[in-house]
Amino acid sequence: MTNELFSPLSLRSGQVLKNRIAKAAMEENMAGDGQLPDEQLLSLYRRWATGGTGLLITGNVMVHAEALTGPAGVVLDESAPLEPFTEWARAGRAGGGAIWMQINHPGRQIQADMPGVVWGPSAVGVDLGRHSKRFGRPVAMTPEQIEATVNRYALTARRAEQAGFDGVEVHAAHGYLLSQFLSPLVNKRTDRWGGSLENRARMLLDVIRAIRAVVSPSFAVAVKLNSADFQRRGFDADDARQVIAMLEPLAVDLVELSGGSYESPAMTGRPTDARTQAREAYFLDLARDLVGGSPLPLMLTGGITRRETAETVLASGVSLVGMGTALAVTPDLPERWQEGREADRQLRPVTWKDKALASAASMALVRHQLRRIAKGRDPRPGTHPAFAVISEQRKQRRALRRYRAWLPTAQGTAAARRTS
Ligand SMILES: Cc1cc2nc3c(=O)[nH]c(=O)nc-3n(C[C@H](O)[C@H](O)[C@H](O)COP(=O)(O)O)c2cc1C
Repeated sequence: MTNELFSPLSLRSGQVLKNRIAKAAMEENMAGDGQLPDEQLLSLYRRWATGGTGLLITGNVMVHAEALTGPAGVVLDESAPLEPFTEWARAGRAGGGAIWMQINHPGRQIQADMPGVVWGPSAVGVDLGRHSKRFGRPVAMTPEQIEATVNRYALTARRAEQAGFDGVEVHAAHGYLLSQFLSPLVNKRTDRWGGSLENRARMLLDVIRAIRAVVSPSFAVAVKLNSADFQRRGFDADDARQVIAMLEPLAVDLVELSGGSYESPAMTGRPTDARTQAREAYFLDLARDLVGGSPLPLMLTGGITRRETAETVLASGVSLVGMGTALAVTPDLPERWQEGREADRQLRPVTWKDKALASAASMALVRHQLRRIAKGRDPRPGTHPAFAVISEQRKQRRALRRYRAWLPTAQGTAAARRTS
């Protein structure tokens, strides 16, 4: 049986993952001074690395210091020192598994109180009803900004390889910049980046080409893609199928399927589409439709917490199962599965009516577990979500003050580099 949970997976780059279990990217919101990984982040990754997971995908690392998903985001740009990243890669490999860095640009999904830029394919803001003001108003990117951003992804990937990471995953899901370009609801451009799916996928494909041109062939390059945005007339499964076909000739190792965005937060198990609601492995129906004809190996993430579910996912033809929440609660879950055990506890579900708030609270609750693990404590999945939200807000405010103070210096360093 090829897709057995503890069988290795060989990728096109030649990289071999020791089993079929990956920790999916979870933004840790834990950057230290200078938006760099620090000791807490390393200790979190050491814990995961020794828990049996074959592949660790980091939380998204920002390619542009002026565009962060949150004030405690890690940035790897031309000015960042490499040593903290080298240590991060070493921590992630402590158990003999691989570590890939997820790289991302948030585009328009930037909180209104953040300094820096709010860019999108078009000047179409995030629509969150009464919460819409939480995000900045985007401006449409110029062709020069698009090209400079493509180069930033490549630079971050090249530096990730230099630091010792085994690969990168380009985040083109969850409503961030590349996913905004793919979406017909957000991308209203009439130039070569808008209109047809080929045009909307151009930036993603250029990013992959630019990365492949600067990393070695043995370095893995993966893409996280929405199987659907779960919005009427949005990016759908048929679009996903076509984009996967476009990625195939570009030496991509793997496509991770997810779904949703801030506007339709399916990625935390609360999609607006009833088909995927309240289920384990809630994207599996969509993945089944995609897996048959897929020319690339697929990874599926979302709602997997039990071995039986993971095995059902693999039996459908998916090559790798991704888990976020389950590994935040039980960092050694793969090892337990190998010993015939399951997790003792699950995360307390957030059942608030307001979908946007419930999604934010679920994320805060997961991040609360990450912070506990990073401090050498055990997760506490029964924590009340309101407590997690309040404690997160306090930390975010502190991180925002620090980011505001740091950014002008970082911009100065970058400008000096360009003119020297
Ligand atoms: C706290 C938190 C942070 C996340 N950050 C990221 C991220 O940085 N990049 C990403 O692609 N997905 C991110 N996700 C989504 C997860 O990768 C995953 O797709 C989602 O949590 C569903 O999987 P799960 O049910 O196993 O948690 C995050 C999820 C959580 C809970």
